[in-house]
Amino acid sequence: MGDSVVHALDGVGLTIQSGEFVSITGPSGSGKSTLMHIVGCLDRPTSGALQLGDKVISAMSDKQLAQVRNREIGFVFQTFNLINRTTALDNVTVPLIYTRRSYAKKTAEAALERVGLGARGRHKPSELSGGECQRVAIARAIVNNPKLILADEPTGNLDSRTGKQIMRIFHELHDSGITILLVTHEMDVAVQANRTIHMLDGKIVQDIAVDQSYREQIIEAVKATEMHLHREEGPFPPPDDERATAALQHERRGASARTTDLAE
Ligand SMILES: Nc1ncnc2c1ncn2[C@@H]1O[C@H](COP(=O)(O)OP(=O)(O)O)[C@@H](O)[C@H]1O
Ligand SMILES: [Mg+2]
Repeated sequence: MGDSVVHALDGVGLTIQSGEFVSITGPSGSGKSTLMHIVGCLDRPTSGALQLGDKVISAMSDKQLAQVRNREIGFVFQTFNLINRTTALDNVTVPLIYTRRSYAKKTAEAALERVGLGARGRHKPSELSGGECQRVAIARAIVNNPKLILADEPTGNLDSRTGKQIMRIFHELHDSGITILLVTHEMDVAVQANRTIHMLDGKIVQDIAVDQSYREQIIEAVKATEMHLHREEGPFPPPDDERATAALQHERRGASARTTDLAE
């Protein structure tokens, strides 16, 4: 109204060390997704600077930014954002635009194996359960061996058992050395991180370490979750997170011809 400007993020200063697992909580509209988009180089901040390792991201061209996104960061969204017309394997192959085709297929198959979906590569998203779709999305996120995974409410559309399977995968990735930044509404998910940040009105209002013995008790059960496939779960409705979908389309536009022929 009038001249007032709403800052989706306001004076946020955040340093994440390599190897950390950080969760972000906060009410709807508090700026969690905006922060993820900026950390993930999908949006540029109107002011301020972003650095990833020794690279100053805020000074990069769009092309350089697209490369950093593709090679160093994996994204996982609440609504999976898979291409529905094509197979799980093709979805996982999308980020491998700089990889030789024969090698890309092997690499994508290995990523699907890593999330326990080696047998599901030829299925389309409509033939998979919600949890399986999210596992395909995680395979796509890790296929280029990123240093950092950004996950925006990855269990938000899943039942609690399936959510545990997804969290088990994040723990395995974290244990392998990947840095994870994960947005969640669920406290029992948030405390599975080493550190949890609470946002309110575009600001970080709390940034605390999770007690390690408490955390270990919580994740013990998660890590023991069975990873079998659930055929009883129905297929999942298509993506409705417009911003995330737009971000993914933006990503695809920056990619080569092979991505274009997969795009919807
Ligand atoms: N595309 C957009 N254009 C303008 N304002 C937006 C846009 N997306 C989000 N916002 C606003 O930015 C603030 C933070 O939104 P968001 O980061 O999506 O919050 P959260 O993920 O915590 O729910 C909110 O006030 C929201 O209304
Ligand atoms: Mg959000």
